[in-house]
Amino acid sequence: MEINNKKEITYIKLKKKDGQHFIDFIKKNLKATLIINHKFKILHENDYILYPIIKGQSILDKIKTVIDKEINFEMISKEGIPNENYKYKTLQEAVKGKIPDEYLDLIPKSYDIIGHIAVIEFDKFNQLYDKEYHDYKDKIANAIIDVNNNVKTVYEKKSEIKGKYRLRELTLLNGEDKSETIHKENDCFFRLDIKNIYFSPRLVFERRRIASSEIQEDEIILDMFAGVGTFSIQIAKNKNVKIYAFDVNPNAYRYLKDNIKLNKLNGEIFPNNIDVKNLLEPTNQLSKSLYNKADRIIMNLPESSINFIDVACFLMKESGGILHFYQFSEKPNPIEKTLKFLEEELTLLNWEIESIIFSKIVKHYSPKSELIVVDLKIKASK
Ligand SMILES: C[S@@+](CC[C@H](N)C(=O)[O-])C[C@H]1O[C@@H](n2cnc3c(N)ncnc32)[C@H](O)[C@@H]1O
Repeated sequence: MEINNKKEITYIKLKKKDGQHFIDFIKKNLKATLIINHKFKILHENDYILYPIIKGQSILDKIKTVIDKEINFEMISKEGIPNENYKYKTLQEAVKGKIPDEYLDLIPKSYDIIGHIAVIEFDKFNQLYDKEYHDYKDKIANAIIDVNNNVKTVYEKKSEIKGKYRLRELTLLNGEDKSETIHKENDCFFRLDIKNIYFSPRLVFERRRIASSEIQEDEIILDMFAGVGTFSIQIAKNKNVKIYAFDVNPNAYRYLKDNIKLNKLNGEIFPNNIDVKNLLEPTNQLSKSLYNKADRIIMNLPESSINFIDVACFLMKESGGILHFYQFSEKPNPIEKTLKFLEEELTLLNWEIESIIFSKIVKHYSPKSELIVVDLKIKASK
């Protein structure tokens, strides 16, 4: 399919000596940014200057009525020369003309930005069997770099999140193949490598919610599936608490330690590279010291948090503590289903839900299920 990059556009042509007056005049009387088409270069021809104008009858009428009496000019039509410094505002705007119009609706509406990296999923686009679709993906990736000043690298999601470390396959679409970055979230900095640790910027509001909730000074908190420290660091930045952060992935642990140093914290974080199930082993010294000690536990391993509820009960203060529990749960009524399931599991362990503090659907996970969170006060049954 041929795409025509050559484009006739409208220019206002006036004497160079009137150029500044023209700009001052339209700035004052019309919004200059809405008149000049910055996607194309301003041209200089002998004594004349040519300003590219945004197409549209109302704009042309405005120019004619407002400027006509002030400045001598003519309107001409001529091939535009693209301005390579122009920054597009939307992805669709940036790829228009570069891929066929009928594919524009297939462009993903959103993508993740993590530090200098964008990660995109072509769910609809992949249905195309057009031999040019690799080329179009490349153009879209290029456009992502164009519309985002800080993005230098674009990866495509190639698999679901999977495995014990919760990783996904990524392939480079455009830019430098550099998967380590520093991501800023809620005033904290996270060094991470998106190819070998789990990180989702989509939980930004959850982390802010938890970090700014009513956490008492001196609490003992366990972050059972800490990753690179996203929850732990944001809490310890705000509060003078002690957080024991665990992750089984050695890379996540390495970045967790880096990130503790990278951020100015009020509280203390103790990083551990273990499988939290090991905390149930009677010989484990750390486990002995943490038994019956936690005021609060974060469980963010949504595909299997429920399998670790025995560890949470072992470590939580028997008199009661707060559990932030994330889980993928089937529709309909995903929150109710998780609560019922949790209640049954807790009863088997001789624990109970004292109160439900908060619950919500965090995001849609699949056609059949949602990611939900419930904040509960739980305690050992008498
Ligand atoms: C969904 S990620 C959450 C990471 C982090 N809380 C965040 O929001 O960015 C789950 C993390 O749990 C870790 N993990 C999985 N199973 C584990 C286990 N049995 N013990 C400790 N960590 C585990 C994975 O390596 C992964 O980093």
